[in-house]
Amino acid sequence: MRLQTELCGIKLSNPTVLASGIMGITASSMGLIAENGAGAITMKSINTEGKTGHPNPIAITFDGGMLNAVGLPNKGIKETLEEIKEFKEQCSAPLFASIFAQSVDEFAELTKQLYKAQIDAIEINISCPNCDDEFGKPFSCSPITAAKATAACKEYAAVPLFVKLTPNVPNIQEIAKAVEAAGASAITAINTVPGMMIDIHTRSPILFNKSGGLSGPAIKPIALKCVYDIYEAVKIPIIGTGGIMTGQDAIEMMMAGATVVGIGSAVYWRDIDVFKKVCREMDVVLEKEGFTSVKEVVGLAHK
Ligand SMILES: Cc1cc2nc3c(=O)[nH]c(=O)nc-3n(C[C@H](O)[C@H](O)[C@H](O)COP(=O)(O)O)c2cc1C
Repeated sequence: MRLQTELCGIKLSNPTVLASGIMGITASSMGLIAENGAGAITMKSINTEGKTGHPNPIAITFDGGMLNAVGLPNKGIKETLEEIKEFKEQCSAPLFASIFAQSVDEFAELTKQLYKAQIDAIEINISCPNCDDEFGKPFSCSPITAAKATAACKEYAAVPLFVKLTPNVPNIQEIAKAVEAAGASAITAINTVPGMMIDIHTRSPILFNKSGGLSGPAIKPIALKCVYDIYEAVKIPIIGTGGIMTGQDAIEMMMAGATVVGIGSAVYWRDIDVFKKVCREMDVVLEKEGFTSVKEVVGLAHK
């Protein structure tokens, strides 16, 4: 009961949300995530026609987390609509589709195609470090392109629209304000952080793509600061994502200003039931600190 919450009018049994790119592909994998306690599920990002990913090596772990350049492999909108249908026939957990595109028009078209799908929200991924827009960098690097992509989707969205931001900008507040003004219902922060690892023996970057996106504990302080800054700049809710491994991490992220928390890499380290584990741990912290609802902690770090 203490963990029940709400995001843009969507009721969640708890504030843990599967982050995009980790298992949210087929109806059966998403069913498993729901069974293991996620309050909501974000699907892997898709585009119109689908895409093959990068060749191996695509991911490597290290003490602080993970570096990946998977390259957004996906089967495209048509097959994804089938997976959504199948999932919703067997499970009532809130489901968020995630889309990425090379142009503003493709973003609008994808949103149109999701119009009749039984999804609870659409997240637009304008921030993948491994995917360029038509100008050669992610849409979320400029308030102008971020707002254009948001407005194009807003026009056709039948459900709340979440916009996912990169931390790799000088001023995330101006991007957050721009997407809020363009119609975003919520902001997801953050996507992975650009990074590289080098192999001494081969004298070259380890990933085939050379660079990739960092995730996991190493990026938690970056994510906390982004969420803290965004909370001061906008009124819409934030899905705080980046380095959440434990219930303690989740409460910190909510105190920074997140309404709910995204969990990605922790599925690898703590297994698929990480959602149940994080919820149990959150409950212990809330009890100890004297809170009756998880909603009470949102934004508490702002004095
Ligand atoms: C292997 C992998 C694949 C990912 N794929 C996507 C994706 O398709 N779309 C997206 O918006 N984010 C993607 N992400 C980013 C995550 O959703 C999340 O923003 C990031 O990993 C930070 O959260 P974490 O530290 O809990 O993993 C991916 C991350 C990983 C590790």
